[in-house]
Amino acid sequence: MMILWRILLSLLCFIAYVYGQSSSPDEAAMNVLKNSLNSPPGWSGSNPCNWTDVDCDGSNQVTKIQIGNKGISGMLPTDLKSLSSLTVFEVMNNNIIGKIPSLAGLKSLETVNFHDNGFTSIDADFFTGLPSLQHVSLDNNPFGPWQIPLSLKYATALADFSAVNCSLSGRIPDLLWGQTFPSLTTLKLSTNSLVGELPRSFSESRVQTLILNGQKLNGSISVLQNMTDLTEVRLNRNEFSGPIPDFSGHVSLKVLNIRDNQLTGIVPSSLTGLASLSEVGLGNNLLQGPTPSFKDNIKIDISGLNSFCLDTPGTLCDLRVNTLLSIAEAFGYPVRFANSWKGNDPCSKSPWLGITCAGGSIIVINFKNMGLTGNISLSFQNLTSLQVINLSQNNLTGTIPEELTKLSNLKTLDVSNNQLCGDKVSGVNTTINVNTGGNPDIGKGCPSGFSSGDGGKKASSNAGKIIGSVIGIVLGLLLIGFAIFFLVKKKKQYHKMHPQQQSSDQDAFKITIGNMYVGGSESGFSGSDAHVGESGNIVISIHVLRDATNNFNENNILGRGGFGIVYKGELHDGTKIAVKRMESSIISGKGLDEFKSEIAVLTRVRHRNLVVLHGYCLEGNERLLVYQYMPQGTLSRHIFHWQEEGLKPLEWARRLIIALDVARGVEYLHTLAHQSFIHRDLKPSNILLGDDMHAKVADFGLVRLAPEGAQSIETKIAGTFGYLAPEYAVTGRVTTKVDVYSFGVILMELLTGRKALDDKRSEEEVHLATWFRRMLINKDSFSKAIDETIEVNEETLGSINKVAELANQCSAREPQQRPDMSHVVNVLVSLVLQWKPAERSRDSEDVYGIDYDTPFPQISLDSSFFGVNTLTSIPSRPSELDCTFRSGQGR
Ligand SMILES: *[C@@H]1O[C@H](CO)[C@@H](O)[C@H](O)[C@H]1NC(C)=O
Ligand SMILES: *[C@@H]1O[C@H](CO)[C@@H](O)[C@H](O)[C@H]1NC(C)=O
Ligand SMILES: *[C@@H]1O[C@H](CO)[C@@H](O)[C@H](O)[C@H]1NC(C)=O
Ligand SMILES: *[C@@H]1O[C@H](CO)[C@@H](O)[C@H](O)[C@H]1NC(C)=O
Ligand SMILES: *[C@@H]1O[C@H](CO)[C@@H](O)[C@H](O)[C@H]1NC(C)=O
Ligand SMILES: *[C@@H]1O[C@H](CO)[C@@H](O)[C@H](O)[C@H]1NC(C)=O
Ligand SMILES: *[C@@H]1O[C@H](CO)[C@@H](O)[C@H](O)[C@H]1NC(C)=O
Ligand SMILES: *[C@@H]1O[C@H](CO)[C@@H](O)[C@H](O)[C@H]1NC(C)=O
Ligand SMILES: *[C@@H]1O[C@H](CO)[C@@H](O)[C@H](O)[C@H]1NC(C)=O
Repeated sequence: MMILWRILLSLLCFIAYVYGQSSSPDEAAMNVLKNSLNSPPGWSGSNPCNWTDVDCDGSNQVTKIQIGNKGISGMLPTDLKSLSSLTVFEVMNNNIIGKIPSLAGLKSLETVNFHDNGFTSIDADFFTGLPSLQHVSLDNNPFGPWQIPLSLKYATALADFSAVNCSLSGRIPDLLWGQTFPSLTTLKLSTNSLVGELPRSFSESRVQTLILNGQKLNGSISVLQNMTDLTEVRLNRNEFSGPIPDFSGHVSLKVLNIRDNQLTGIVPSSLTGLASLSEVGLGNNLLQGPTPSFKDNIKIDISGLNSFCLDTPGTLCDLRVNTLLSIAEAFGYPVRFANSWKGNDPCSKSPWLGITCAGGSIIVINFKNMGLTGNISLSFQNLTSLQVINLSQNNLTGTIPEELTKLSNLKTLDVSNNQLCGDKVSGVNTTINVNTGGNPDIGKGCPSGFSSGDGGKKASSNAGKIIGSVIGIVLGLLLIGFAIFFLVKKKKQYHKMHPQQQSSDQDAFKITIGNMYVGGSESGFSGSDAHVGESGNIVISIHVLRDATNNFNENNILGRGGFGIVYKGELHDGTKIAVKRMESSIISGKGLDEFKSEIAVLTRVRHRNLVVLHGYCLEGNERLLVYQYMPQGTLSRHIFHWQEEGLKPLEWARRLIIALDVARGVEYLHTLAHQSFIHRDLKPSNILLGDDMHAKVADFGLVRLAPEGAQSIETKIAGTFGYLAPEYAVTGRVTTKVDVYSFGVILMELLTGRKALDDKRSEEEVHLATWFRRMLINKDSFSKAIDETIEVNEETLGSINKVAELANQCSAREPQQRPDMSHVVNVLVSLVLQWKPAERSRDSEDVYGIDYDTPFPQISLDSSFFGVNTLTSIPSRPSELDCTFRSGQGR
């Protein structure tokens, strides 16, 4: 029977192959392109798969168009959107003019290369609908003035983006760079007319190459401090000001060019001592202190003006200079001082701004009304000859250091009209005339955390960053390991076709991978604990899991779900894991193979908002899944059970961020390059929180692969009442809209603090979705529906209303009325963005922009990433896959 099927399938494949030879579904679109480009060389005949520089897949769909450097003229037609399998579109170094059209909907498109042409504009929505887009180059095109489009945020798979010398203007938008583009490593925007400051969210990004030279960017470059993955930075020829940040975390930084700006302050030793550095440009700034001394083999460009105290590198400045500089440091090294304070003698004939001397000693510091911000430095106490300090009419914050009153010669201290706080100084010496008037908070306490001085937090945070970077390197190595792993795997797939060669190679394969991936894996399994199973996933030994969970001890139970019990575990090295122990009856016989292949896929799905599945164990009757441990537990714990658990109720801002996290995770599942995952059982007990209170979606136990192309599959119902979309409950038809519905219910739960189904409530309040819709009808009733722990004020109300509206749309009765998850993400992003920047930076405080939890960049299940089509390892649709493989071989 089986054999007959195979023959039949092969026959069908063959027919499809032959048929495919004679026509391509992309023929029409390709001919339009051809005519519009005045017939590129080698484009003749009707079948585009036969044209030069055009590649097709097994079903004769065009996958690559690579016509760079051909002297081609003409324009791009607007209707390329039907080339649904296109992955690479390259037309660089030609003479193509006109508009770059939208390619929205090309789900597989990864690379677009438009540089060095005559394009005059790009569709404003160009970056929408391209979920796989990784590589973009637009350099050297005569665009009319344009701005970085906000639609860029939809291209979340971006790895490199280059728009050099193409008339960009306006600001660099704050697109939550780190979160939005977790895989972005290269950003080149130089030689444009960009203005304004670097977005704060750069600090969370993992960009390695940052090229922004030659425009009008200004403000501080302090965000670089947290961008510890940087290897090359070019910010030269801009208008940046303020000091050079700490670089001690930048273990990979090779090139730093910050010439021709207005940077001030002392060149930090964290930069001069940076071991990885090979090229540094500092000239033409207002840098102060000693001329920095770098190692000999570093290419250093320090020509042009600066405000160093002495010319010889490394020579220390006069003590008075040092003291004045540390005073200026607490003000953020203002440009005015850096412009005026030149040389090594503050008491020279051309006096330094704000300084008055007598006999070589500084007796007056008069910085009144200089627009200063920052703190009053303790270093004032080292200027013992001081008689007058006037800091009045600035915007200084913090406290007045008590030490100032110990200055034995001080007669006058005027700090009036600032924003100082804390005690009025009451010097032991009543001879000092102190004026603290016009500081509303003097005599009151300070807002928490305020005091004078520089604080002692630096050292430990730097240590954190160094550790972070080291982890970064280790992860890099792991990634290489992972890539090799897949290359070997590709070989293995080949062996499936040639079984006689299989056995010996496979052993070799196991050993290599056992050391490379498992041995060094982030999950802390050592070589003997785990190995790579036949479908490439990690098999973990039962002994390890027994050890880790204290023999499945009651005390280790984290929760019980429909599929079994979840235990907390800890590996030898302290890594925490969560082990799901399923009832053996659930999976047996044939189900086992399916189970394994599904896990093979799931262990490879990585996204910062999805819980990582490390591997599994199938021994005897044991069926165990090993997940990343999430310390803060489920979302239900935080919205429904916070009182019992002694937790604080979640603030609105936090709920918004959690909603966005979940939406991103689900959106990712829905838009995986070549296939969709549908979760089917989204609910707060399947949403887990980390210590940073960011959320990850868990439990893919019910996820089944949705067939490519097909929008819905009919299948057994799985899910939880209260979250089930009506059409799913009634017909069992599954589309991505089923998850959207459940997500809508989760939003309602976040808004109201009520459960989707609550038997304890009165008849009309049992079913949240129904009740919620009723409450939403008017403002009064709605305000009563909001969870009373949420602080409702002007600021929150706007976003609460928007989320309520969104919840309503998501759980619309008709699936087609529900938005896509990408729309949901956009709405939530805009709401989170509206939040005070302070909230956001605090939010990301402890991660240093490094997502420790997600060791690999988010991996889409697509061929280009590993050079193989991972889909071919999924046996769920063998016939089609065989077809692809065979006709692929023919090419
Ligand atoms: C494509 O090219 C092959 C070999 O060059 C040729 O045999 C075949 O007839 C061509 N097909 C078409 C449709 O032009
Ligand atoms: C910048 O782009 C223009 C085309 O818009 C090109 O003519 C010029 O050569 C480019 N400049 C550089 C330095 O590449
Ligand atoms: C940066 O430039 C913008 C104008 O482009 C200006 O409004 C802003 O004040 C400048 N910021 C700084 C810190 O100089
Ligand atoms: C002033 O000191 C406080 C407390 O150390 C600190 O939080 C604040 O950031 C400082 N301000 C500046 C501008 O350094
Ligand atoms: C005062 O000067 C001494 C000697 O140079 C130095 O060690 C100390 O750090 C300085 N104190 C402050 C607060 O700047
Ligand atoms: C300090 O400067 C302010 C602002 O110019 C001035 O009003 C005040 O008299 C000065 N204080 C002293 C003690 O000179
Ligand atoms: C102090 O800052 C506030 C806003 O932060 C500003 O309105 C005010 O002009 C500033 N005052 C001075 C003296 O710079
Ligand atoms: C108070 O001032 C006098 C002279 O003005 C000085 O001799 C004495 O040391 C000062 N006392 C303290 C505690 O600084
Ligand atoms: C760098 O990260 C730390 C900790 O996350 C944060 O407190 C700080 O604000 C960040 N600095 C910048 C410039 O973004």
